Amino acid sequence: MLLERTDSRPAGDLLVALERDSPVSLHRQIEASIRAAIRAGRLTQGVALPPTRSLAADLGVSRGVVVEAYQQLAAEGYLTSRAGSYTRVLAGPDTATGFPSSPEEDAPRIDFCPCRADGSRFPRAAWLRSLRRVLATATDDEFGYVSARGAPALHDALAEYLNRVRGTSATPDAVVVCNGYGQGISLIAQVLAASGAKRLAVEDPSTDDDAIPVARAAGLEVVGVPVDGDGVRPDALDRLDADALVLTPSHQWPTGAVLAPDRRAAVLRWAERRGALVVEDDYDAEYRYDRAPVGAMQGLAPDRVIYAGTASKILAPGLRLGWLVVPQRLLGAITAAKALADRGSPVLDQLAFADFLSSGEFDRHVRRMRPIYRKRRDALLRALADRLPQLEPAGVAAGLHLMAHLPDHLDERRVVAAARAHGVAVHGIGPYRIATDGRPGLIFGYATLGERTIAEGVRHLADAIAEQL
Ligand SMILES: Cc1ncc(COP(=O)(O)O)c(C=O)c1O
Repeated sequence: MLLERTDSRPAGDLLVALERDSPVSLHRQIEASIRAAIRAGRLTQGVALPPTRSLAADLGVSRGVVVEAYQQLAAEGYLTSRAGSYTRVLAGPDTATGFPSSPEEDAPRIDFCPCRADGSRFPRAAWLRSLRRVLATATDDEFGYVSARGAPALHDALAEYLNRVRGTSATPDAVVVCNGYGQGISLIAQVLAASGAKRLAVEDPSTDDDAIPVARAAGLEVVGVPVDGDGVRPDALDRLDADALVLTPSHQWPTGAVLAPDRRAAVLRWAERRGALVVEDDYDAEYRYDRAPVGAMQGLAPDRVIYAGTASKILAPGLRLGWLVVPQRLLGAITAAKALADRGSPVLDQLAFADFLSSGEFDRHVRRMRPIYRKRRDALLRALADRLPQLEPAGVAAGLHLMAHLPDHLDERRVVAAARAHGVAVHGIGPYRIATDGRPGLIFGYATLGERTIAEGVRHLADAIAEQL
């Protein structure tokens, strides 16, 4: 057995397996071991190998054996060595001579991917100021285990912000900080299932990578509620026998619809009648362009609604900062689920975010970004009107994406594929539908693209569609 012998041991930071009884010579075994590590990606390009003298000493072999192995691998293109420097890995798994490269799809030239904020606008300087301030002022206790609900300073700052800007009815002790909405909805699904809930209703169409998979993983059945131009249809709710409903009322994902006021009231009446819970995913509410802000539903029924927010659309998804405002009766269970998941989110980030909010930087950032995104949206609408007037934009008043209905004679999947062949990535709405058939359409994220690129992307898309006709 190769790895059970005492000769098989780490050499510096390099694990080399040697079998002294083997008929294979020692230098060939060293070669094979290093070659396999490079091919498997365990040793990556640029990594320095131990000097021959120390590897030889660690393995209990003469230095010449290691030199021979290194020379052979250098000749094969795996390693490189220069006088006075370490021998390094030259090739990654896809580039070394002698083994095949994995074919990769060409990246699209213009990507209308809908789920992104513009990372290049992340307010680095302001975030750094917040980080510096909290590092200078945080008490020692704040670096210890804090409540799984998160840092009290962030509960205060979020409650103030959400009540002021989103019209919630939030007290700091109802806020649970989590790692993005992704974790928040997972905690909610677990708590629902543990409390005996059986069915979770989600909007149809809706995103397929958060509520649906986590609800199923928690053992809940998922049912879709049809969405039209005014958002989710409450008349369909009564037939569904659902224990909870997940909604994106301020900008429906993916149709972009804003839930009409009478429907908000009807959804809340349904929840009250059934004793059901509403989860309000308020993921991009701050970006609204041509309409007055619509307050959060949570403010109308704080006992029936869990409010869920995220920094992913306003700042950056890599922060993994999200928050829930939870009705009192569920607070203990959600906090316990969060404690079980990870004992609480990283405190330094929470404190920095609390400072960022309370110093007004978050508001400033939203105000700075709104006209930038608005111009990009306008550029997209202009280009669509010029080049593709047969498409019908919808859900354009808010958010970081819009959708455009396709005329009936165009096949959505073929349009998406043809666009890809022209270097343009755009999503169809079909994959996000659960049960309801609906008009075909394309989803355009515009937040990361400059105005000229948007126009160019639509031009290529128009060429791709012209070829379909
Ligand atoms: C509908 C919806 N809600 C929320 C989010 C944000 O998720 P997270 O906070 O986990 O990044 C996304 C991300 O794309 C989304 O599509």
